[in-house]
Amino acid sequence: IVPPLVLGIESSCDETAVALVRGDGTIVAQAIASQEAEHAPYGGVVPEIAARAHAERLAPMIARVMGEAGIGLEDVDAIAATAGPGLIGGVMVGLVSAKALAMASDKPLLAVNHLEGHALSPRLADAGLAFPYLLLLVSGGHCQILAVEGVGQYRRLATTIDDALGEAFDKTAKILGLGYPGGPAVERLALQGDPKAVPLPRPLKGSPEPHFSFAGLKSAVLRAVEGGAHSPADIAASFQQAAVDCLIDRLDQALERAGPFPALVVAGGVAANQTIRAALEAFAAKHAMRFTAPPLALCTDNAAMIAWAGCERLAAEGWQPGAAFAGDPLDF
Ligand code: KG4
Ligand code: ZN
Repeated sequence: IVPPLVLGIESSCDETAVALVRGDGTIVAQAIASQEAEHAPYGGVVPEIAARAHAERLAPMIARVMGEAGIGLEDVDAIAATAGPGLIGGVMVGLVSAKALAMASDKPLLAVNHLEGHALSPRLADAGLAFPYLLLLVSGGHCQILAVEGVGQYRRLATTIDDALGEAFDKTAKILGLGYPGGPAVERLALQGDPKAVPLPRPLKGSPEPHFSFAGLKSAVLRAVEGGAHSPADIAASFQQAAVDCLIDRLDQALERAGPFPALVVAGGVAANQTIRAALEAFAAKHAMRFTAPPLALCTDNAAMIAWAGCERLAAEGWQPGAAFAGDPLDF
């Protein structure tokens, strides 16, 4: 049977993104517009600027992606859009656009949780990745460990009680004067530093509570910078090492409580970090787990993961070509 074709829309943070993905994992077409330049002067995402940029770009982007792929609305089987969590102005632009397209074309609307998009994106990149798997979701807004047991079946094993890890990277970059977005800049600077040079805390390490905490680590970075005894590169490298140690400690604990799992998967923007990837790979090997990390373009926010989550939902709910499929109510 012909796999379904889903149009995906992502607009919950600072990327406007559109993708057409098939149920067999083919990314037919996609586009992404980053708002990095607009937000950079403010050192972080400004919700009002983000919402306006999404509103300006989304409709022409949908038309361009579909036009370039030679795909009309009539060829699409469902329309998926991020319905939250995220900055509400941006979410509304994407979700309401998706609703309008679904209504106009009489196609089902699939309202996708942004985190579900990240959680399932590894299966788009790695067709052999089966449920269940242990997922480390590390982005600018989230830091969680999830047991992914099936489509729609996610058990949260750990979350942050203050900052997300990406946020800690961004704040560290700000303290070090590296600009925004901070993650890649901290990683680059860390390459020239000594990860053991600066004594920094490992918040909650060894704690029986299944949580992360990064606010104290950020404060310690600030004190190290103000102290003036260490080079920025040493501080960046030591910060990154502290983050790695926290991740591994919490994963160890999650595994002990809810394991074993055949696979460890990392997703979210911070998964772009090579030092973190290497540490996770070693952790997985030690515990005889398969390790999967989506390619970088699928780790950071994108619309292919939203369209793919839609494909996964169609498959899980027994979608058939030509058969009526309800999707989510258009009036929720
Ligand atoms: O998943 P994502 O694109 O957006 C959110 O949903 O938050 O993640 C963005 C986050 C930012 O905080 C960024 O600094 C971080 O991911 N990030 C990194 C790296 N690349 C992006 N953090 C550490 N190392 C990196 N190489
Ligand atoms: Zn995200």
